[in-house]
Amino acid sequence: TVVVLDFGGQYNQLIARRVRECNVYCEIYSYKTDIEKIKEIQPKGIIFTGGPNSVYLEDSPAYTEEIYKLGIPILGICYGSQLMMHQLGGKVEKAPVREYGKIEVHVNTDSALFQGVSPKTICWMSHNDYISKEAPGFEISARTNDCPVAAVENKEKKLYAVQFHPEVLHTQEGTKMLSNFVYQVCGCAGDWKMDSFVEDSIKAVREKVGNGKVLCALSGGVDSSVAAVLLSKAVGSQLTCVFVDHGLLRKNEGDEVEAVFGPEGSYDLNFIRVNAQERFYEKLKGVEEPERKRKIIGEEFIRVFEEEAKKIGAVDFLVQGTIYPDVVESGVGGESTVIKSHHNVGGLPDYVDFKEIIEPLRNLFKDEVRKAGLELGIPEYLVFRQPFPGPGLGIRIIGEVTAEKVKMVQEADAIWREEIANAGWDKKVNQYFAALTNMRSVGVMGDERTYDYAIALRAVTTTDFMTAESAELPWEIIGKATSRIINEVKHVNRVLYDCTGKPPATIEME
Ligand code: XMP
Repeated sequence: TVVVLDFGGQYNQLIARRVRECNVYCEIYSYKTDIEKIKEIQPKGIIFTGGPNSVYLEDSPAYTEEIYKLGIPILGICYGSQLMMHQLGGKVEKAPVREYGKIEVHVNTDSALFQGVSPKTICWMSHNDYISKEAPGFEISARTNDCPVAAVENKEKKLYAVQFHPEVLHTQEGTKMLSNFVYQVCGCAGDWKMDSFVEDSIKAVREKVGNGKVLCALSGGVDSSVAAVLLSKAVGSQLTCVFVDHGLLRKNEGDEVEAVFGPEGSYDLNFIRVNAQERFYEKLKGVEEPERKRKIIGEEFIRVFEEEAKKIGAVDFLVQGTIYPDVVESGVGGESTVIKSHHNVGGLPDYVDFKEIIEPLRNLFKDEVRKAGLELGIPEYLVFRQPFPGPGLGIRIIGEVTAEKVKMVQEADAIWREEIANAGWDKKVNQYFAALTNMRSVGVMGDERTYDYAIALRAVTTTDFMTAESAELPWEIIGKATSRIINEVKHVNRVLYDCTGKPPATIEME
């Protein structure tokens, strides 16, 4: 394992990704993590991340200097490099020239870090402070025109520091540098693969759970499905999965989840389906404000889950399908502003009697969760399911939610998905769905005046769902879906295509 110590930089997830791309397992920990915990992990290497602060200011994140004495190789990146220099007796101050963007760096290719790297190489820089003097015992191994200390090292102590960001792809040979660090300096074997993650996790869960009882909230989404199957492989029928059908799922989705995980399905677990549709519709009556709707659905979900849990009685463990980006997005790892309150993170049931939480996917990225899912033998259509928000169709119906509107959007959405799949576009766009606008307008059908709703179709391409582009779909697909929706879905007389990207829009409408 390589440990990434997070000091709040924006590229920290990327560092973990790059290391794992070297087939070396890597976990991210906050700089607030106790050093005893780090010792317990016995990492082969440690990477300090970047961060927005200045090391010489009083309240800036730091780490106990004991870390330098463990004999574990450390690579400091940007803020991390400055912190290392600052703590070990070098000097960090405001840079006379701020470097930002792609900068040519002259590196000493004798350094273990820069083996096989070109002597002049383009690196990504983003810093206001700089290392004006290296710490005693350190040697400078890279420089730029404006930055005399772009990299330093103490070979004996295996301490390395770089001012630039090797994890960013703009650093042309960054991957080489990181692989040099994990292979040459840390001596990692590079034999970590998804199947070892799956095997190790099953073993670890089995050890942790023993004969205990485990409870899991299953939504049918990728994350909770993978978590549930992993647990089921580890502890079988000691696991109970509760699936709350809130009446805001896509067409037939409830039955599909039941078919896979229920008694007729292929997994060893106890499956409980709660049909709570009416309860949710009741709570949502007359509510129009998006955040209010999200809160109500989130809270009601927890209440229903709690009631079900109460019937089961005390359990030892509660499983959460949290994945790494959730940890960051919900503000646990990062500082980002809340644009929307995501309901499946942060909200924990208060009244469920459990001792401990298990989050087997906490350190995985989405594509890694999918790989783990395939390893576990979960059907592909489940593993490659497009994202679906926790509040479900509740936030795809603008304004008040009613059972009738749910039905309309379910039908329209099913048609839209079918047409996109038929045209072979389902793998080319990352998320696509129908939403029901709160707009009614005049139309004419069979010589009759109509005054009905408009459906909005959406399809976006994105890599990380933080930004997205509206997909330029062939008109044929949109046209065909439009006429089917008008013909097959009652009370819809108009279909619109959403051409907005994110930003300025978001992917969902609420
Ligand atoms: P937005 O609408 O914020 O969505 O651009 C970005 C991605 O997140 C999904 N999304 C959610 N996922 N719980 C979730 O698990 C939620 O409450 C939630 N809200 C939005 C959305 O579908 C898109 O993929």
